[in-house]
Parts: sequence; structure tokens; C-alpha cells
Amino acid sequence: MNCKVGINGFGTIGKRIADAVSLQNDMEIVGVSKTSPNYESKLALDRGYPLYCAIPDRISEFRDKGMDVEGDLNDLIDESDIIVDCTPGGVGAKNSELYKKAGVKAIYQGGEDHQVADFSFNSLVNYEEAYGRDQTRVVSCNTTALCRTLYPIKKQYGINKVRATMIRRGGDPKQDNRGPINAIKPKMKVPSHHGPDVMTVIPDIEIDTTAVKVPTTIMHFHSINIELKNKNTKPEDIIKTLEETPRVTLVTEEHGIESTAQIIELARDANRPRNDVWEIPVWKESIVIKNNELYYFQAVHQESDVVPENIDAIRAMTKLEKNPTKSIQKTDKNLQLNPMI
Ligand SMILES: NC(=O)c1ccc[n+]([C@@H]2O[C@H](COP(=O)([O-])OP(=O)(O)OC[C@H]3O[C@@H](n4cnc5c(N)ncnc54)[C@H](OP(=O)(O)O)[C@@H]3O)[C@@H](O)[C@H]2O)c1
Repeated sequence: MNCKVGINGFGTIGKRIADAVSLQNDMEIVGVSKTSPNYESKLALDRGYPLYCAIPDRISEFRDKGMDVEGDLNDLIDESDIIVDCTPGGVGAKNSELYKKAGVKAIYQGGEDHQVADFSFNSLVNYEEAYGRDQTRVVSCNTTALCRTLYPIKKQYGINKVRATMIRRGGDPKQDNRGPINAIKPKMKVPSHHGPDVMTVIPDIEIDTTAVKVPTTIMHFHSINIELKNKNTKPEDIIKTLEETPRVTLVTEEHGIESTAQIIELARDANRPRNDVWEIPVWKESIVIKNNELYYFQAVHQESDVVPENIDAIRAMTKLEKNPTKSIQKTDKNLQLNPMI
């Protein structure tokens, strides 16, 4: 029998996870919940996802707009084996008591603190620890991207220290109220929260990060510098390792891919849904080793890189699959995560 998944919060992340769940053959969407009857609520109904209203008093607002509502959040919880909470940062922590009281498993997103579940997840790093768990947090888009490339490098060559700069998008494409519009805005807290967040997934890594926001909406960008333990490591070794790592893809100037704009164009040309780039693109030419220090650049499609991780977390927590590699392969095959070039 398929695992029954409820999605609380059907925005940027929630709608992508709902579509990804519906592409898997071992899980199904039993409903999604919203607080306002807007275009995203209409999308849920158009996709055939049963619609629930997170705030009971507002059910009549949905019905007044001709939207069929099945019930409130408690009703959605009753229907679900697992809830994927995709509400705005901070709301998930408030919902956690409700999930625990109802005895439903719950996944939270990176806008919540590690303490919301006391376990932070990345498929490559700690899938086995998620097996059968009741509460899990899938880390943010930036932390997911850092874990995807740092973990295999650490495993094969050893890492003394990571220093990384996050060049962050000002807002998502739909966020017309975010900025900066014409400025570069450094995060004055040094190191930024991203390094400690990586350590919630890979505790024994030494990492410091800094962060700036720039006027772009399509992707984040990371400039990464690693002091390697293995002094004989060559750039070709790193290239091979990253080529063999799931959900990491090497891009190159040789193909004319010189910016995040061209990566998004690749995704459009590959007919990816919503131009999603689930994998982390790393520029081949940027992989350089000088005096035992590795440098590379990677891009992050903030709206979609966490989606496959959420699918794997559902599979591990509900004991659908014990083997991480099998889950990763199944998720990616069903998403049609094929090379874009
Ligand atoms: N966007 C990203 O780049 C990104 C990347 C990785 C992780 N995340 C994390 O993912 C989570 C969701 O972010 P998002 O970008 O998807 O946000 P979003 O686009 O604003 O979507 C949030 C959704 O939650 C609904 N909502 C608001 N309050 C709610 C409540 N009390 N109960 C139920 N639903 C509620 C909103 O719908 P209504 O209009 O109905 O209120 C909306 O559908 C956050 O933790 C965020 O940090 C975001």
C-alpha cells in the first residue's frame, strides 16, 4: 500500500514536493493545506490534490470562491501517514506539537532550527539514521548544496578546514517584496549561520562561511575553498569524485555555461518542470588545487534542490526503503533527473 503524504503549506517548496511525491510509485498525496484561497490553492485543485484549509475559520472564504475544501489541518493529519511541513520559517516549529500529539510523522524544512526535530537530514550523509524516525528536518537549500559536495570530498580526501562564501539571491522569482534591488548586502554576522548548519548534518567538519545578498532571483552561488588532508589530491580526482556523486553535475565554460542564467536556460531547454535544477552544478574550470587548497564554484537552485531530499526522507522515515542508494536512484529516476547536457 502506498504511503499517504500530506503537505502543509503549498508554496514554492510545498508544490514542488507534492508534484515529486505524485511521480513516485510508493507514495501518494492525500491532501495539501493552505491558509488563503489564492492562485496556488487553485493550482492544487487543478492538479487533483485534495485541498484543506490550515485555519478552520477561513474555510468559508475558500467555499465563497468556489474552491472545494475537504476540511481543516486536523482532518489532513488524520488522513496522512506523514506530514511534510512547508509553511514559512518558524511556523513549522509551532505546528510540531500538533503533529506529535496526533502521532503523525513530520518533516520540517530548513527555515526551522535543528531543534525542531533534533535531526537534520541529507540523503548522502545520514539516510540510515532517518530510517523509522518520527521527526526530521531537511536542511536549507544552501546547506543541502554544501553537504552534497563537501561530504564526498571529505570522505575520499579528508578535510582540515572549509571556508565558503554564499552569494545569495535576494528573493525567489515570485517574491515581489524582497530585495536588494540595486545593492550588495553583506551579512554582518561572521561566520554566517550556514557553516554551523552544515555541522548539524556533518558534525566532524570544520567550516566557516560568510554570506552576501545580491539582486538576482534565479540561483545562489557558492565560492568554496577547502584545505585538504590528502596532500596528493589532484583536480582530476575531485572531478571524478563529483562526477560519481548523485545530484551533483559538472558544467563547463566549453559549453558556453558561464553564469547562473545559462544554467536556468539549460533547465528550460531540458523541459524541466518550473526550470528546476535539482542537482548542484559545479564549474569544472573552477576546480583548482594550489598548495593543497582546493577551490571551486557551485550554483544552487534554491527553489528545488531540497525536493529529492524530502522524497528520500519520506521513504526512510516510513520504512519504505532501507538502502540509501536505492532510494536516491528511485527518487531521481521517477523525477527524470537526467543530465541536462
Ligand atoms: N524558497 C526557498 O528558496 C527555500 C529553499 C529551501 C527551503 N525553504 C524553506 O521551506 C519552507 C517553505 O518556504 P517557501 O519558500 O516554500 O515559502 P512560501 O513560498 O511562502 O510558501 C509557504 C506556504 O505556506 C502557506 N502558509 C502560510 N502560513 C501557513 C500556516 N500557518 N499554515 C499552513 N500554511 C501556511 C502559504 O500559503 P498561504 O498563502 O495560504 O498562507 C504558502 O503556500 C521554509 O522553511 C523555507 O525556509 C525555502
